[in-house]
This record gives sequence, structure tokens and C-alpha cells, in this order.
Amino acid sequence: MLVHLSELLKDAQEKKYALGAFNIENLETTLGVVNAAVKKVSPIILQVSETSIQYAGLKAITSIVQTIASVQAGDIPIALHLDHGRTFRAVAECVRAGFSSIMMDASDMPLTENIILTKQAVDFAHRKAVLTQGELGVVKGLEEIEEEERHKLMTDPEEAEKFVKATGVDTLAVAVGNVHGILKMQKGNPGLDLDRLEAIHKLIPDTPLVLHGASGLPEAQIQKGIVRGISIINIDTELRLAFTNTLRATLINDPEEFDPREVLAPSIFAIQKVAEEKIEMFGSAGAAKP
Ligand code: G3H
Ligand code: 13P
Ligand code: ZN
Repeated sequence: MLVHLSELLKDAQEKKYALGAFNIENLETTLGVVNAAVKKVSPIILQVSETSIQYAGLKAITSIVQTIASVQAGDIPIALHLDHGRTFRAVAECVRAGFSSIMMDASDMPLTENIILTKQAVDFAHRKAVLTQGELGVVKGLEEIEEEERHKLMTDPEEAEKFVKATGVDTLAVAVGNVHGILKMQKGNPGLDLDRLEAIHKLIPDTPLVLHGASGLPEAQIQKGIVRGISIINIDTELRLAFTNTLRATLINDPEEFDPREVLAPSIFAIQKVAEEKIEMFGSAGAAKP
């Protein structure tokens, strides 16, 4: 069933696990992740980026999530979130469409602009009881930055405290060595700056922290992150790889098959397996038991 993110966050914080926030873009990826949540009896966040909204259409993707959450997911609680909203307009559209949380990502702007844009989104969302995520520090892809820049772009703990106070965000995406995208899957994930994460959490202990770019991050790092205040963990790249690599193999193995349902079923299952593994890793398996 579709629920408000606030319900999920409260339980995650009390029981000290993290919620998986899985990026989806169509019926098949949504089914794969939801099947995993049902199998593992786990609450989850389904999130869409602006690119996915452009691809599927806001109304269509919202309806897919709402319908699958109420039909296939049954009692398993699912929250719908806008990932990396870059404009006030995108945020406002998702608030109006019934999302229970949005991200305003102005992290690549100077601090003052980031605060102004994020606060504007927060004020609007809060009027409709929608939760908000901001980002401070910048989480880039390895292909976009050199090692030295990755360090420079990390979240400063004192600035994080100031940012949360000034904007009123409910959750904060942090840059603590985490990186987005595919290249880290090939080169190795550089890992988290756990001391920095701990320092941030100490200054804003009541603000759930969000870890972007978590594909490929080893379980030990994830668990150390959860102990240091990470309550939401974003996974996209590993889902995409599972879906597309499986699709490629399916088509090569059976070049005669032309029924899209036959061709896509193994990819849906591949997504499910990745999401199941992450749910176990994040400690949320069983958390949706009545
Ligand atoms: O962190 C970004 C997400 O992986 C979304 O990427 O804009 O290509 O959908 P996208
Ligand atoms: P990955 O693609 O590295 O898993 O990151 C996902 C993410 O941060 C979505 O916002
Ligand atoms: Zn992200």
C-alpha cells in the first residue's frame, strides 16, 4: 500500500535500519522492486528522477506506482519520492501528483543559492504536508571528477547544521565520499569518509541522512553508515545493470523469441534479486511484519 514517507522514517529510526530508495522508470522495474519488498516483508521507497518522469510521463509513472503499491504490494508499505528534483516546477508537480516526499537538489549551486532554492521548495512542500530532502556537498559521478575534487565537494559538518536550520529540510543527502553512476562499478567504489559522516550526524542527530550513489558499496561500509545516521539509501545503477544485462543475455540466448512478456520476465526477476539483497543489507527485511 502507498503510505506517507513519515511513517516509514519513524520506524526506520526507531529500529535503526535504513530504507532502500530504489529508482524505477517503468512497469517492469517497479514490479521487480515491489516483488522484492513483498518477498522480504520490507518497507521501501520507490523514487523517480526528472529524467524518468520525462520518459514515462508523470501521470503514468505515478499511476503505475500507486496501482502496484495497492494491488501487488498488499500491506507492504511503499512511499513515492522525487529523486534529484532540480527545479521548483518539478517539485511542485510531484507534490501536486501525490508524492509524499521530494528532493530539491541545488547542491551544485553556491551555499546561499542552495539555501534559497531549497527553502522555497520546503515551504511549498510543507504546506501540503510533503517531506523534503536537500543536498549539501555534491555527489558526482567518478567520470565527472578527479580524486582531489571529490574531497573538496564533501559535506562540511558545520555547514550541514546551518543548512538544515536555514532551510527546514526533513532529510539531508550528504557527500561523504559516495559517488553516483557506473564508473565506480568498474573502478571500485572509493568508500565512505566515516569520520565526516559521524561529525555530521553528531551536529544534526534528528535529521535522517540520505546516502546517494550506494550501488557497489560493500555491506560493511553500508552498516557503518547506518550506525552513523544514514536512514535512506539510494540504489539505481545496480538495478539498471541487472535489468539490461539480463535483457541482453535473454535476447542473445533466444533470438527467435518475440513476445515482450517472455523477453522481459527474466529482467524483472533480476531486478527483484538485486533489491532483495539490498533490503537484507540495509536491515529492513521483516520490518513490515504486522
Ligand atoms: O542519481 C541519479 C539517479 O541515478 C537518476 O539518474 O536522471 O539518469 O534517471 P537519471
Ligand atoms: P547509484 O546509481 O550509484 O546507485 O546511485 C543512485 C542514486 O543516488 C539515486 O539518487
Ligand atoms: Zn542520487
